[in-house]
Amino acid sequence: MRKKVDFLIIGSGIAGLSYALKVADKGSVCIVTKNVADETATKYAQGGIAAVMYTPDTYEKHILDTMIAGDDLSNEEIVRICITESTDRVKELIEWGTHFDKTQSGKYSLGREGGHSEHRVLHHKDKTGAEIERALLQQIHEHKNIEMLENHFAIDLLTQHHLGLGVSRGMPDIQCYGAYVLCPDSGEVLTILSKITLLATGGAGNVYSTTTNPEIATGDGVAMAYRAKATIENMEFVQFHPTSLYNPNEKPSFLISEALRGFGGILKTRDGEEFMQKYDKRLSLAPRDIVARAIDTEMKLSGDDYVCLDCRHLDKNELIVNFPTIYAKCLSIGIDITKDPIPVVPAAHYQCGGIKVDAFCKTTLSNLYASGECSSTGLHGANRLASNSLLESAVFSHRAALETKKKIDTIDFRDDIPDWNAEGLKMNEEMILITQTTRELQSIMTNYVGIVRSNLRLKRALDRLEIIYRETEDLFDRSIITVEICELRNLINVAYLVIKMAMVRKESRGLHYSIDYPQKAPIKMNSRK
Ligand code: FAD
Ligand code: SIN
Repeated sequence: MRKKVDFLIIGSGIAGLSYALKVADKGSVCIVTKNVADETATKYAQGGIAAVMYTPDTYEKHILDTMIAGDDLSNEEIVRICITESTDRVKELIEWGTHFDKTQSGKYSLGREGGHSEHRVLHHKDKTGAEIERALLQQIHEHKNIEMLENHFAIDLLTQHHLGLGVSRGMPDIQCYGAYVLCPDSGEVLTILSKITLLATGGAGNVYSTTTNPEIATGDGVAMAYRAKATIENMEFVQFHPTSLYNPNEKPSFLISEALRGFGGILKTRDGEEFMQKYDKRLSLAPRDIVARAIDTEMKLSGDDYVCLDCRHLDKNELIVNFPTIYAKCLSIGIDITKDPIPVVPAAHYQCGGIKVDAFCKTTLSNLYASGECSSTGLHGANRLASNSLLESAVFSHRAALETKKKIDTIDFRDDIPDWNAEGLKMNEEMILITQTTRELQSIMTNYVGIVRSNLRLKRALDRLEIIYRETEDLFDRSIITVEICELRNLINVAYLVIKMAMVRKESRGLHYSIDYPQKAPIKMNSRK
């Protein structure tokens, strides 16, 4: 089946939905999403969205905090754009129906998280993302120009390659004409032709064994863009959230929001000793790269499987009112956070790099845009400041909408793209091979490409990856397409990019720490154009 839309959006988190709402008055919009519409990382966001709302906060303070967290690798121009547009975008989310908590005086209640010099995080209890996703989806469902295809999986982007023309990385004017999309229920692959395509596919936390990310986070957008020869950057900067709930075998790992540390929670060893004073004067509220590494070091020193977050000294009622989800979750496994320390461990959480885009989300391919966690705007540099990612999605999707609405009338559909060819392919009888290979991949990344890296470990990871890459490509070439094999391929692709980019970074900076190069390289090497 073939379909034509002006705007094809892949992903239904904050990046995809906010873009859809902005372009829908200019043409037909189709949102393709691989699960039900709200199954996104956005829905699980806890702490909130950072924005400058009131004095004594200022744009300059938020800009400086973002630059410091990014460890000198953030693009200052992009940081300035994002922060100075933060207030307007948050007001827009409110106009679309998002409820953020207020204080008794009627002002927005602002939380604080690691690396922020002011209270500036707007939130809805500890389930901010669910509230944003709810409000956006309500608007989407009311819009007659927007079609939502749930349980549809984007396989690959369409380019000149599908017309039999050679396409190579770095070649000028590679065009994107839409995407092949699998409907797993019917097994049919749709050819969706579009004038503009926006990738809003989120992160890739599932490349690791332990992650806070939902199952949908398999790096599909980055892998699709890479195969289509777009430029990908900064993939070595994988953010591990310092505090996920230690509850072995639970997948994904439940997040214990940094907002809890902002509220006064203190990190301690299992023996009850505070340790952050050994690592940073900002203690439990230092930026995430520092806190996650400190926890990793403490766990290695003690041999313990976790450290603890102690909230027992905090006001019991306030704790329960402000963090109802965390309170209930912990209680469900026998931990009363008002009486017991919470066992926590770092978990893969956020992909700081991704598909390289400009200040309007334009990738290196014509008519292909990317926004949200799958993109790399240059905002986060070597480490993302907490609660800046929902903000980044809202700001840059808005900017993508401004640019693409201007362009849309100048673009034609490409009708001669052939349909998906499944001739000669057979059903893969051994799904277990895919499950096992996925676990193998996750254990390679966890064991060799985690918080602390070395040349030897990275080489081991690459050697092992090579084997599963070849086996999986072979299986892919022979099998009828399924979501599972596509996701595995995409995860392998992402793992390859993380390892390769980690190998060429001969320094330690932000989230990339190598025991072979413990120092930072002079900053010129890193300047981002
Ligand atoms: P997502 O919201 O992840 O949406 C991705 C969409 O793409 C999904 O709809 C998915 O189904 C779809 N998709 C992916 N691949 C395909 C495919 N092949 N075909 C079709 N559809 C596809 N950030 C903050 O700023 N503040 C917070 O408090 C915060 N808390 C967090 C808590 C948790 C537990 C997690 C996991 C993340 C948190 N983050 C937070 C990060 C933030 O939630 C994400 O970075 C952000 O929501 C990403 O939005 P997105 O629209 O880019 O992607
Ligand atoms: C959290 O609530 O700790 C997550 C915030 C974020 O990832 O930005």
